[in-house]
Amino acid sequence: MRTTPAVPVPDAYPPPVETGGAAARRYHARHGSVLPAIDPAAGSAAPKHHPGTPVLPLPFPPAFPAAPGDEEPTAAVEGLGGLLALLNGVTRVDWTGAAVAAGRPVPSGGGSYPGEVYLATAAGLCHYLPSAHALELLSPADLRADLVRTLDRPPLDHPESILLITSRLDANLARYGPFGHRLQALDTGVLTGQALSLLESAGAAPVAHALFPDEELGRLLGLDPAAERVHAVVTAQTPGAFTPSAPLLRRRTARSGFEPVPMALPVLLSVLEGAAAPIPMDHAAPVDCALYVVAHRVTGLEPGCHRRDGRTGQLIPVTGDATPRGLFPPNGPGELAGFEAACAVLVTGDYESGYPGHGDRWYRRLNLRAGVIGQRIGLAAAAAGLGAGLRCDVDTPAADAVLGTHPHRTTLLAVLLGQERGSGTPSFPLLGAPGPP
Ligand SMILES: Cc1cc2nc3c(=O)[nH]c(=O)nc-3n(C[C@H](O)[C@H](O)[C@H](O)COP(=O)(O)O)c2cc1C
Repeated sequence: MRTTPAVPVPDAYPPPVETGGAAARRYHARHGSVLPAIDPAAGSAAPKHHPGTPVLPLPFPPAFPAAPGDEEPTAAVEGLGGLLALLNGVTRVDWTGAAVAAGRPVPSGGGSYPGEVYLATAAGLCHYLPSAHALELLSPADLRADLVRTLDRPPLDHPESILLITSRLDANLARYGPFGHRLQALDTGVLTGQALSLLESAGAAPVAHALFPDEELGRLLGLDPAAERVHAVVTAQTPGAFTPSAPLLRRRTARSGFEPVPMALPVLLSVLEGAAAPIPMDHAAPVDCALYVVAHRVTGLEPGCHRRDGRTGQLIPVTGDATPRGLFPPNGPGELAGFEAACAVLVTGDYESGYPGHGDRWYRRLNLRAGVIGQRIGLAAAAAGLGAGLRCDVDTPAADAVLGTHPHRTTLLAVLLGQERGSGTPSFPLLGAPGPP
């Protein structure tokens, strides 16, 4: 009997079949580059768990031996439980205007946290439960060799630990509509960036992988491909003690806004340097994710848009009359935050450069990369004592108009920087106090 092949739905995302970039282009034009229609009343999908699997509780809080000789208070966390807490666990309690909320070490669009973290070691395959700080044991078998075999570019040395970062496809769609898929790629990039920062700090030589057939990898994890996809794999050697700096524990969104006061150029340059360091990934971007600064109140820097020169680290003027406020739609929350902020950093990329080599997957890979850079900006800002806010609610055509004459370069993510207003949202750290005792 002849079967009729399934006709791909033109706007389905992720596309059911590879189209060499055509489906990703269509998705971006229709949903990914337009302001999301946000339904703030819509909740996020419940976090994933696997009923019936053995649950292994992890000690909370993880031990925090002081790192000797450090001026700043630092915390050292032994073991992978510490890694998982600092990657995606509950690390603080926030008192917001509306409620008490569990704060995480990483930001997430709308606080939806569509990402899930799986861990493969010699002891088996586990799924991390952030709110319980526990592991679900999905398989006691050592699956590392099977997982590595699926990678297009496996690491040279057999990895001791493998983190698999997935996204639940429906986690944020009720609130963001189809734009949620782009947010998911950014969010899993943020998680990937955090995993790289933590594992690098522990000397575990991590590499982030984005080149793999995700259906095959998903099968090894037991995922339903219509519900959850693997976005990134981070391979690493045996980590030493995790010594997260106080800024890593301090990072949060400047929810109360910014004091309209200037920041100094050297501080901005140090944040950009932290963000622009090479990303240990299994592929190079055909065109780099250039960083632009739209300055408003930066002492020593003319207002307007500047491009960061990747070679020298200097800021080159591009457009004179751009303001952070003008990057956001009028009368929205972004406009006020943009007005108050000292500057906006724009993480940009080029979709067209990657479709010929990567096909539709390039869309996700580029946004993943932007998420890594966004996470680094957040950490570097916290280290510099600045408030920061990652934002996807920019008016993309308005933001792209200030970038100059690059034909396909577009804004992937904006980060507002400045001095956080007042004392900010009251917050109680759960993993050691990141400040003088
Ligand atoms: C990719 C991404 C996009 C975001 N976009 C916005 C935004 O447009 N507006 C906003 O107010 N916050 C935005 N945020 C910040 C989140 O709302 C915030 O991270 C989340 O509520 C968790 O709070 P925390 O960062 O203080 O831990 C974004 C975060 C991420 C990671």
